Formats: sequence, structure tokens, C-alpha cells
Amino acid sequence: MWAAPRLNSWRWRSRFGSAAVFHVKHAAPFCFVPSSGRGILPIQRERATTRIIAIANQKGGVGKTTTAVNLAACLAAAERRTLLLDIDPQGNATSGLGFAQAAGPGVYELLAGEAKVAEAARPTSVPGLDLVPASDRLIGAELELASAPRREARLKEALNVEAEGYAYVVIDCPPSLGLLTVNALTAAHSVLIPLQCEYYALEGLARIIDAVRLCRMRLNPGLAIEGIVLTMYDARLNLCEQVEQEVRRHFPREVFRTVIPRNVRLSEASSFGKPVILYDIRSAGAEGYLRLAKEIIDGAAKSSRQGT
Ligand SMILES: Nc1ncnc2c1ncn2[C@@H]1O[C@H](COP(=O)(O)OP(=O)(O)OP(=O)(O)O)[C@@H](O)[C@H]1O
Ligand SMILES: [Mg+2]
Repeated sequence: MWAAPRLNSWRWRSRFGSAAVFHVKHAAPFCFVPSSGRGILPIQRERATTRIIAIANQKGGVGKTTTAVNLAACLAAAERRTLLLDIDPQGNATSGLGFAQAAGPGVYELLAGEAKVAEAARPTSVPGLDLVPASDRLIGAELELASAPRREARLKEALNVEAEGYAYVVIDCPPSLGLLTVNALTAAHSVLIPLQCEYYALEGLARIIDAVRLCRMRLNPGLAIEGIVLTMYDARLNLCEQVEQEVRRHFPREVFRTVIPRNVRLSEASSFGKPVILYDIRSAGAEGYLRLAKEIIDGAAKSSRQGT
């Protein structure tokens, strides 16, 4: 269960910077990431309207779901009402929040026009975080969508969520660039790309960035890159450091300053059906995602980690 009293008074000081203060229940001290310029795409400032962020990378196992679940939970903990959409038929975000796939309307019903967001969204154990779960029916959705009218825009049409009062909608995409991901990219304001520090990381990155460009040209001209977040980072490995340097050299302003460390508490939390802030808020994984949420809320530049 949500440990509200503990969280309310909890104050987090980053290991990486003395000015870094994240006060979960009080938005005012959200102050530590200095803004330092703009990337190739506009930097996003906090806004009153709903912001839809697709978490996408065609490569499997890079931390999309872990990022979607924990980022959504941290945004909600920062008092930004958030909706998490699990559009991956694997349903990992759904089970990662402790939900079974089968019960009630979910993302399939949204895509099919059989349910509205308000009918499909379930409250989760994190106050302010709702989930539209994946369901077994989603497995056939790519095939069904292929012959549907406006097949790339089904999710966009379903996501008329401003009236529901969400500050953020986070979409967990499957590991492909098929129609489900294309629907997410068409519906989203921006795409956040989790990148695991490994060989060939840059090649994978080039593919998803190409897909974003294509989507911007054909389907969603306003689609921005929210940022690239390095995941499962192990500071002891030279490879991680090398990949980080390469990625930051190629995308100096797009890479988030925050790096998500490899941290077993993150995998443990999802096996218990919880976001990590409800499982071990003092873990390095929780710190990472709280910082990432703060960077997104601040709309700070995603330049290299100065002074860290
Ligand atoms: N920072 C981390 N530290 C340790 N383990 C992690 C971390 N991030 C993710 N994992 C683990 O790595 C595995 C893959 O992560 P995740 O499911 O988030 O990736 P994904 O990109 O969503 O995968 P898929 O492409 O299959 O949807 C999971 O077992 C997850 O618990
Ligand atoms: Mg996943």
C-alpha cells in the first residue's frame, strides 16, 4: 500500500548534487536541474494541458516498461495526475502495477472505440496514478488494426483526456515499430527513448529516431523528442561510460542528465507489482526515476551531466 504519511514528509537529497532536493508532496522545491540551452527540438516547459509521452524503442529489454511504470509513479507522487497506458500485448506495465490482464476494458477497447478513457482507467496504489491495462485481446490488435480505417490514429482519437484532468499520459510501447507503436507516436506530444548502454546502442537509436522523423513527416508534425534516458547504467563498466560519451557526443542536448542505474530493487519492485517508490524509496533506482520525473517536470535541457 501507499505509505502516504512517510512519503509526505520524505525529503530526498541527491547523492550527485548538494542542491538537489526532491520534496515529494511539495512541488515548490522542484529546483535543482539548471536549464542550459535548447536541443534540436523545443524544450518542453510545464503546461496546464495534458502532455502525452510515448516510451518507445524497438529494441527489446532496454527498460521501456520499467521507465514507464516508475516515471508515471514519480510524476504522480509529484502531484501531477498521471495516466499510464499499457499498449504492449506482453502487459508488463499492467502486471508491474499489480493488475491482472483479463479484467474489464483496457487499451484494446480504447483502440476499438468500445470504451472511453474514463471507463478503462483504473486507480492504482499510487494516488494520482491511473492505469489503462493491456488485455489478452491486445495480442490480435496489430492484425485487426491493419485493415481498420484511420489505423494509425485510433489511439489519438481515443485519448481525448484533457477533460479527465491528467497532467501526463505515459504510454508503454511494445518492442517493435508496428502499428501499436505507430499509434502511440501519432497520439503523443513527445517520445522518450530508454537506451541501454551496450554495443550497437547507437544503431538502435538511429532506427527509433528515423521512425520519429517519419512519423513527424506523415502523421504527427508536432512530435518532439522528450529525451533519451540511459538505463541499467553500471558505472563500474567501461562499456557504459564509452556508450554514454558516444551518445552524448551525438545528441548533446537530447540525453537526460539523469542516468538510471542498474539496480536490483527495480526488478524486485515490479515482481511485487509495485513501482519502486512504494517498494524502496531510498534505493538508487527510486532516486533515478524521481530525478528523471523532476527533469521532465522542469522541462530542463538534456545536456551532459555537468558537475556530476
Ligand atoms: N535499471 C534497472 N536495473 C536493473 N534491472 C532493470 C533495470 N531496468 C530494467 N530492468 C530489468 O530488465 C528487464 C527488462 O526491462 P523492461 O521490461 O523494463 O524492458 P522493456 O524495454 O520494457 O522490455 P520489452 O522490450 O520486452 O517490453 C526487466 O527484467 C527489468 O526488471
Ligand atoms: Mg516492456
